[in-house]
Amino acid sequence: MINFKEKVIELIEKEVDSLSHDEISSLIEIPPSYDMGDYAFPVFRLSKAFRKAPNLIAEELATKFANNENFEKIVNNGPYVNFFINKSKLVETVIDGVISEGGNYGSSKIGEGKTVIVEFSSPNIAKPFHIGHIRTTVIGNALYKIYKYLGFNTIAINHLGDYGTQFGMLISAYKKWGDREVIEADPINELLKLYVRFNAEAEEKVELRDEARYWFKELENGNKEAYELWEWIREISLQEFDKVYKMLNIEFDSFAGESFYSDKMPRVIDELNEKGLMKESDGAYLVDLEEYGMPPALIQKRDGSTLYTTRDIAAAFYRKENYDFYKNIYVVGSQQNLHFKQWFKVIELMGHDWAKDCIHIPFGMVSLEDGTLSTRKGRVVSLEDVLNKAVETTLTIMEERNPDLENKEEVAKQVGIGAVVFQELFNQRIKDYVFSWDRTLSFDGETGPYVQYTHARANSLLERGNFNLEDKVNYDLLLSEDEINVVRMVYDFPNIVLDAMEKNEPFFITRQVVEIAKGFNKFYNSSQIIVDDEETKKARLMLTYIVKNTIKIGLGLLGIEAPNKM
Ligand code: ARG
Repeated sequence: MINFKEKVIELIEKEVDSLSHDEISSLIEIPPSYDMGDYAFPVFRLSKAFRKAPNLIAEELATKFANNENFEKIVNNGPYVNFFINKSKLVETVIDGVISEGGNYGSSKIGEGKTVIVEFSSPNIAKPFHIGHIRTTVIGNALYKIYKYLGFNTIAINHLGDYGTQFGMLISAYKKWGDREVIEADPINELLKLYVRFNAEAEEKVELRDEARYWFKELENGNKEAYELWEWIREISLQEFDKVYKMLNIEFDSFAGESFYSDKMPRVIDELNEKGLMKESDGAYLVDLEEYGMPPALIQKRDGSTLYTTRDIAAAFYRKENYDFYKNIYVVGSQQNLHFKQWFKVIELMGHDWAKDCIHIPFGMVSLEDGTLSTRKGRVVSLEDVLNKAVETTLTIMEERNPDLENKEEVAKQVGIGAVVFQELFNQRIKDYVFSWDRTLSFDGETGPYVQYTHARANSLLERGNFNLEDKVNYDLLLSEDEINVVRMVYDFPNIVLDAMEKNEPFFITRQVVEIAKGFNKFYNSSQIIVDDEETKKARLMLTYIVKNTIKIGLGLLGIEAPNKM
């Protein structure tokens, strides 16, 4: 595809020696509206070299640049040179580009040879997988797909919370009150009950705490009974989580959770000692971070057991050694900002410059319309239930809208779950948001079903019009404002994907697909697509095709399906 911005730079480079390619590139602006051009170049920086007033420089440059095949107009507007893309060239290059890249439109090889780890989801075993986990799961999955699409060797890791003193509690509780059959029938809820009961009783009987500590120590020491119980708990929990991952179509390359690092911590502790970073405090060990305005990072407890932070540090070392990552990304809520800042600092203090490649990608909280979610209040809404409800409700809507649809159940799954994922990815990730059923499942407005419906509509137009990808198209028939508007957004799509990667913000893509869908519907509502005139019909169907293709790719990058009929 023609890179029009690059063409602008080339033109300027030829006339201007005093600025480098990159300097010119960063000076170029996008005017606030298209009637001022597609690109604008401010000439202030050239005053010295040209020894003229800025307006005159701009005028001189614009005159020199005139008559360029890629731009229909290059004019000066005060001290700016404004470039207007040749629309028929734009249409031509976008259509050619989409046709030749097809389902890979917007992909690239910029990541080749670089490994990016995306760690996401990472729930705690024996605890409910609730709506609060949806954010890390869905944002992480989208980032994983985006990096992959750009050619990075991408690794999805689920850093399961499968270790820590709470497993000492669970083991004690199970030994006192547990019943294997009851638990296997409803693992998470029953394990949660045991955990809650243990905590309640430990309020009165303090010795229970010691017992829990004892069992965790035993687990760390490899006691067979403790280990087998823990393994069983992990297994039945994973089976539950897996139901949700299947519904969301999410796969991980590794489930190496916290326990995986239990034998990889001593070396971290040794290195911290060697480098003189460890400080004793009351029998416990920590790294002092006062100088950096942070509380100390606790590495080892008084009883010798390790902590969440220790495991994170050990995991980072393991990943560096085994994957030699270019980026090691953690998609974890903003409540853990301090935790990540602390241990990234510890690695930096140990003298490892790859500390800077460990990146925490935080996000805000999700809450339900009728209040927040909290495990302690026992008000958790399971993610599985939310997804099931979305599918059921969608099925009811589909029965009304399109009773004859084939595979209604399958489509309801794609639309219902897609709707939830779409809402998740609609806003800047750092913003808190309130989950609303009405907004999520609506077929109108900026929603998943709306975009999916536009895709299905485009598909049915292509079928009805017997669209043929090989048909030659007269580009000059796609120059109306509505048409160019859509073409421009498809043209921008590859850059949007890059931006989404650079800023780790999937919502750029969500917004772009909504805008493309809106733009296409505006066009569809004002012009008939399947018309008698063959040439016009072919051109309009081609526009329909590039829209359908781009929406499908965009949704795919977000982890959302695009059914052909709905
Ligand atoms: N299991 C943790 C939780 O549920 C999240 C783990 C985040 N990842 C990490 N490497 N610390 O809060």
